[in-house]
Amino acid sequence: MAFPILHLSFSLLIMLPPFAVSQTGGNITVGASLSTSDNTSWLSPSGDFAFGFYQLYGNKDLFLLAIWYDKIPDKTIVWYANGDKPAPTGSKAVLTANRGISLTDPQGRELWRSETIIGDVAYGAMTDTGNFVLRDRVSDKLWESFKNPADTLLPSQVLDRGMTLSSRQSETNFSMGRFQLKLRDDGNLVLATINLPSDYTNEPYYKSGTDGGLDSSSPGYQVVFNESGYLYILRKNDQIFSLTQRVTASTGDFYHRATLNFDGVFTQYYHPKASTGNERWTPIWSQPDNICQASSVSAGSGTCGFNSVCRLNSDGRPICECPGGYSLLDPSDQYGSCRPNYTQSCEEDEVAPVEDLYDFEELTNTDWPTSDYALLQPFTEEKCRQSCLNDCMCAVAIFRSGDMCWKKKLPLSNGRVQTIVDAKALLKVRRSNVNPRSPYFPNNKKDRDGLILVGSVFLGCSVFVNFLLVCAICMGFFFIYRRRTKRIPQKDGAVETNLRCFTYQELAEATEGFKEELGRGAFGVVYRGVVHIGYSIVVAVKKLNNVAEDRVREFKTEVNVIGQTHHKNLVRLLGFCEEGDQRLLVYEFMSNGSLSSFIFQDAKPGWKKRIQIAFGVARGLLYLHEECSNQIIHCDIKPQNILLDEYYNARISDFGLAKLLLLDQSQTHTAIRGTKGYVAPEWFRNLPVTVKVDVYSYGVLLLEIICCRRNVESKVTIEEQAILTDWAYDCYREGTLDALVGSDTGALDDIEKLERFLMIAFWCIQEDPSLRPTMRKVTQMLEGVVEVPVPPCPCLLYAAS
Ligand SMILES: *[C@@H]1O[C@H](CO)[C@@H](O)[C@H](O)[C@H]1NC(C)=O
Ligand SMILES: *[C@@H]1O[C@H](CO)[C@@H](O)[C@H](O)[C@H]1NC(C)=O
Ligand SMILES: *[C@@H]1O[C@H](CO)[C@@H](O)[C@H](O)[C@H]1NC(C)=O
Ligand SMILES: *[C@@H]1O[C@H](CO)[C@@H](O)[C@H](O)[C@H]1NC(C)=O
Ligand SMILES: *[C@@H]1O[C@H](CO)[C@@H](O)[C@H](O)[C@H]1NC(C)=O
Repeated sequence: MAFPILHLSFSLLIMLPPFAVSQTGGNITVGASLSTSDNTSWLSPSGDFAFGFYQLYGNKDLFLLAIWYDKIPDKTIVWYANGDKPAPTGSKAVLTANRGISLTDPQGRELWRSETIIGDVAYGAMTDTGNFVLRDRVSDKLWESFKNPADTLLPSQVLDRGMTLSSRQSETNFSMGRFQLKLRDDGNLVLATINLPSDYTNEPYYKSGTDGGLDSSSPGYQVVFNESGYLYILRKNDQIFSLTQRVTASTGDFYHRATLNFDGVFTQYYHPKASTGNERWTPIWSQPDNICQASSVSAGSGTCGFNSVCRLNSDGRPICECPGGYSLLDPSDQYGSCRPNYTQSCEEDEVAPVEDLYDFEELTNTDWPTSDYALLQPFTEEKCRQSCLNDCMCAVAIFRSGDMCWKKKLPLSNGRVQTIVDAKALLKVRRSNVNPRSPYFPNNKKDRDGLILVGSVFLGCSVFVNFLLVCAICMGFFFIYRRRTKRIPQKDGAVETNLRCFTYQELAEATEGFKEELGRGAFGVVYRGVVHIGYSIVVAVKKLNNVAEDRVREFKTEVNVIGQTHHKNLVRLLGFCEEGDQRLLVYEFMSNGSLSSFIFQDAKPGWKKRIQIAFGVARGLLYLHEECSNQIIHCDIKPQNILLDEYYNARISDFGLAKLLLLDQSQTHTAIRGTKGYVAPEWFRNLPVTVKVDVYSYGVLLLEIICCRRNVESKVTIEEQAILTDWAYDCYREGTLDALVGSDTGALDDIEKLERFLMIAFWCIQEDPSLRPTMRKVTQMLEGVVEVPVPPCPCLLYAAS
């Protein structure tokens, strides 16, 4: 705060009005005027108070029409007229008979005038109490500053019912602020925030309790600041409710004032009249006692701005601070709102798991008590974190009493530091090293160019040359990886620091001796287990068969590649085990099983959910093909290999494994990877295997998701319907989509999308791989950002053997 003080004294030096030109003591007659350019002011008889133009701090060209203490070095302002409309240089204030004081800018436009003038003003006077009064010929008051207060009350001033004090915006900005002090019609003196720019008042954060309510005492009637410096509420029956308990500094020797500070604290101060060289305003009391705790439950941000946190300073005044990951909306307004550095958007097409993008900052003793939208109970802290992480609505979770998880949404209001036993705030913040372009979007153009080159070479050569090439490339990859793994410091013998190396014994225990089987696939059997990696987590342990001893290096390499993939539509690899001839992979457990059991159940799941799954699979494949640092061809996309997490997000599993076995195949040229019904025709033709094999399988999968039936169904009564790819195309060509989806009203109501998705599927299952779109094109077509042309018939020209 050194800056404003410095500034203040500096501006005082340059704006001291010379006493010589001030009118002292006398009445101010009609026609008298003040100007910003002549440094004059109207003083009270004793010279204590001055009425005139006051230059705004830090702005030489803006002035307030104001009343201030003229004898003390710190010319504290007690009243101001035009806080919202500062007067430019050249403005004038004139005392007129019929308009009272009129403030006009150099162009003659009126900026402010004293209101409610009935009758003709005869003269004005600046009194020694600090009141500026306009009187008529018989000395009746027509207007007075005491009845039109700004943010300060002075001794001998009275606040009637309905009257308010308004805070200023900041110490040096006199625009109307958010806080109000009001003697309500019910007799209560209240402090409340208002919702600017309207004057709608939120629930008070301080109430005097003098409404004569339940105890049927006499209600408050006036707020009186008497000549002795006592501030109290006068009740109807003349009893008083004291705000000032004791005055030790007499009003004879000390100035007193009660000000609603810009931060909402209402404080009575005193200041010595005589110069002692070290004078300052000393607080006597203030309300409320703890403004950070006192904030209300109704609308509004509380004491500080939205998303900010209030902390009580030792002087009873609040300090507002943005929490980590948030910064001030208006950097010049310390007490204003904070904005998150990154706002999580629910639509955001993140290419990485939320765990990698967001982290939690743990705050003890911090709460935003009015921003809850959900309470989860009973809940563990780990589940609380997970739930908030996966919820784009959740900005902070308060974990409390060992089993309560309060989720809170933006904007956070009434933030405060307070001691809560057994509670912590988990503030979701964007990880600072995450930038949307990296590391999930590595600059891999070079890699891709390389692959294109490899692709064209593949196309142009004989099988034997292809085989030599594959070997050469594999050797190349192997050396690159060996170099890379060497550079990475190895922990516990792990291939990568983020992957964990388990012993066989550990996994045997985690799965209770490989007891609960989750499924079986081409690569082996999957078991359920629980491992402890700092915390307990349910996992799926895949025991691989068919990995020969001499494939040790490839295993490490492939695990490394898989471990480097991060995408919300891929099942995440947590660790692995290689011991003797055992090769095991440890994955996240997906609680909603496989897509196969989801879509092939008796009741069709909702259309919207299925659409989301189709999108998810496409994005996951796009990532594998184009966005991860090493292109991965899945080779076995089918509903059994798409798993669903607890939020029904599609998560592709088993990716990266094909390559392990592909190495074998390229030497034998025999077995076909993949599963009947989903494999692309080129597998049978000895053509090079490219990413387009996955596009083909995706097309089949998309049709299955749309129709909720298997591609090959032998039990159908009508023969034409046995193969879904054929039947769907027939229905599409004949325009009988209703036959295809049956009673699925969700799909029929969304017929445009239904037709688009079918067309995309037909493009994907074209026999000629070059006709099939890339997964990027597929996602664009699914999203509707790219037109889908009419697809040719996906008929097979050669029957598969
Ligand atoms: C101001 O004018 C009024 C009415 O004319 C008069 O009663 C009063 O004494 C004057 N005050 C001063 C300080 O001249
Ligand atoms: C006010 O007085 C000061 C000191 O006499 C002078 O430097 C300044 O220019 C004056 N301001 C105006 C606006 O006339
Ligand atoms: C005071 O604050 C208001 C609201 O933030 C702003 O519009 C105005 O420009 C400020 N005035 C000055 C003189 O800085
Ligand atoms: C002001 O109020 C206090 C407390 O009620 C009282 O003791 C004192 O006499 C009053 N002073 C005047 C001048 O009325
Ligand atoms: C948020 O932004 C502010 C201001 O831009 C910066 O000072 C702060 O370091 C940022 N915080 C994080 C966590 O990125």
